[in-house]
Amino acid sequence: MPSLPPITGFDFPGIDNLHNDIYPAIDARTNHSLSQPGKVVLITGAGRGIGRSIALQYAAASVSSIILCARTSSELDEVESSIKAIDTRVRVTKFQLDVTSEEAVSNCSNQVKAVEGRLDVLVNNAGATDPWLPIAQTNPKAWWKTLEVNLKGPYLLLHAFLPLLVDTAKANNTAVDVINVASIGAHVISYGASAYIASKIAVLRLTESVNAEYGDQGVNAISVHPGGVVTDLSKAAESEMLNTFLNDTPDLAGGFVVWLTAAARTWLAGRYVSATWDVERLDSMKDEIVEKDKLLERLVV
Ligand SMILES: NC(=O)c1ccc[n+]([C@@H]2O[C@H](COP(=O)([O-])OP(=O)(O)OC[C@H]3O[C@@H](n4cnc5c(N)ncnc54)[C@H](OP(=O)(O)O)[C@@H]3O)[C@@H](O)[C@H]2O)c1
Repeated sequence: MPSLPPITGFDFPGIDNLHNDIYPAIDARTNHSLSQPGKVVLITGAGRGIGRSIALQYAAASVSSIILCARTSSELDEVESSIKAIDTRVRVTKFQLDVTSEEAVSNCSNQVKAVEGRLDVLVNNAGATDPWLPIAQTNPKAWWKTLEVNLKGPYLLLHAFLPLLVDTAKANNTAVDVINVASIGAHVISYGASAYIASKIAVLRLTESVNAEYGDQGVNAISVHPGGVVTDLSKAAESEMLNTFLNDTPDLAGGFVVWLTAAARTWLAGRYVSATWDVERLDSMKDEIVEKDKLLERLVV
């Protein structure tokens, strides 16, 4: 695999502390310390790829309810069946929606509030990319669509669900989690990826804004790079360069996200983390991360 500059955080925990696939510390199928009974979890882009793996890991973590959102209903049906095969007790609700539709997202939040009355984890995972081309060769509509799905989508979900997240934290005297799926691509200039990387660095800032505005109300927001995974999205980039970085399984991100929310990891609030980083090593770096204010996008001056 080609190397990445240190500023990407690629080998932040040390080159010997990286993973490509799920491992016992983050695998809810075998590690019962990851169980999160009683929680209601909403995942966008849950029909395939990384979102599907996140949903299945939450099922293995014995949450009460998983809300699946995406546009393709056949894929949502398949994920529902796979969840039921893991644990029939998990309540599954499917919303066939476009995350860029304010009305659809608002209707979804009204229904979740009415039926579940709480939301413990919001995973903003839905994403898209236009083909990676130099700016003048891009299609303006497709370029902007990338921004809409990757930035307007998470914004609309936050706009609709933050009140319920805050109420849930208050009513249960606990922390609730927002996981915004970002990308290591936010930290580098990748040839042709102007829309995608602009959207993902904006997601990092959106995460920090959630932390600044709602952190003291119990909302713990974290940006996550899910690893490099062969999916419909990565194929849509049509980039040979990108393909050389796609060496991780979707289950790695599934397990990592479930690990993130299994305890109140408020010391990671507002920060960027990568699913490829070993979690025990990451835990051991807590003081260094907090004291030196690491894993945040900042000007070097
Ligand atoms: N794959 C990688 O290497 C990689 C690396 C870094 C970050 N990521 C991020 O990981 C996340 C998941 O991507 P993936 O690689 O798993 O891609 P994927 O397999 O193509 O899945 C994308 C999911 O998002 C949904 N989605 C797309 N547009 C949507 C819209 N307008 N409204 C609602 N749902 C929508 C898709 O469902 P429908 O099409 O049915 O709506 C699908 O369920 C994205 O945020 C991506 O940027 C991926």
